[in-house]
Amino acid sequence: MTFIRTLIDWNVKVSRTFDRTLPEKYHIDGNRYFCEHFAPPYLGLGMSVYDVGGGKQPYLTPDLKHRFQLTVTGVDIDQNELNRAPAGTYDRTICADITYFRGQAEADLVICQALLEHVKHVDNAFAAMVSMLKPGGRALIFVPSRNALYARLNLLLPQALKKRLLHAIYPKTRSAQGFPSYYDHCTPRDFRRLANQHGLTVEQESFHYISSYFQFCFPLYLLWRLWILGFHAVADEQAAETFCMALVKP
Ligand SMILES: C[S@@+](CC[C@H](N)C(=O)[O-])C[C@H]1O[C@@H](n2cnc3c(N)ncnc32)[C@H](O)[C@@H]1O
Repeated sequence: MTFIRTLIDWNVKVSRTFDRTLPEKYHIDGNRYFCEHFAPPYLGLGMSVYDVGGGKQPYLTPDLKHRFQLTVTGVDIDQNELNRAPAGTYDRTICADITYFRGQAEADLVICQALLEHVKHVDNAFAAMVSMLKPGGRALIFVPSRNALYARLNLLLPQALKKRLLHAIYPKTRSAQGFPSYYDHCTPRDFRRLANQHGLTVEQESFHYISSYFQFCFPLYLLWRLWILGFHAVADEQAAETFCMALVKP
C-alpha cells in the first residue's frame, strides 16, 4: 500500500512539474482563482450575501465577513452540511433545494461555488438566483464544465465506484467531494444562454484549463494534456475544465 501511495505521489509531482513547461493559462486553478481573484473585488461594505451550496465550506471566512460587515445566508439542500460550517460564518441558514427555492430580492451577492454541477435542473437554479438578487445585485459562479473529460467519466461511472476511486487515489477529497453530479447545461455557452433567458447580463468571465484528476498517472496526464491543448485550439473556451462567471441583475 505504501508503495502504491509513493508511486501516486511521484506521478502527481511529475505531472505538476510538466505543467510548468506550459503557458501560465494552462495551470491557473479555476477554484483558487475564483476565491482569490475573481470574487473578492465584488465584496462591499454591509452587503447581504447568499452562499448557495456553501454547506460546510462557505466562501466567506468569519474574518472576511467581519471585515466587510456582511450578512451571510447559507442555503443548502443538506442541513447537516450547513451545521458543519465553521462557527460564525452564517448569520442564518436555509435548508432548501435551490431548484425549488424562491428568494425575496434582497441579496447584493449570490455565490454559487462548486454547486451548479450538482443540480439536476440548472434552469430552475437560475430562476432561484434571479429571485434572490436585488436589482443591480450579482451572482458569482464557479463551476466545472460538462465538457471536461473527468465530468464525462463522472457521468458514466456508478456513484459508489467513482467515490471509492476518488477517495482512494486522493484521500484529501474525502471531506469535500463525492456529491452526485449532473453537469446539467454546465458549459460556458449554455450558461450565457441561460443568463440571457433569465434577464441577467454577463459582466465577467474566466476560463481555466487545468484539473488534477489524472495527475496520479503521468502517462495518462500527458494524454489528457494533449487532448486539452487540441480541444482548446478548436473549441476555445468551450474546452475549459472549469469557469467563473459574474452575472448582473439589471
Ligand atoms: C461540492 S459541495 C460545495 C461546497 C462549497 N460551496 C465549496 O465550494 O466547497 C456542494 C454543496 O452543494 C449542496 N447542494 C447540492 N445540491 C443542491 C441543491 N439542489 N440545492 C442546494 N444545495 C445543493 C451540497 O449539499 C453541498 O453542500
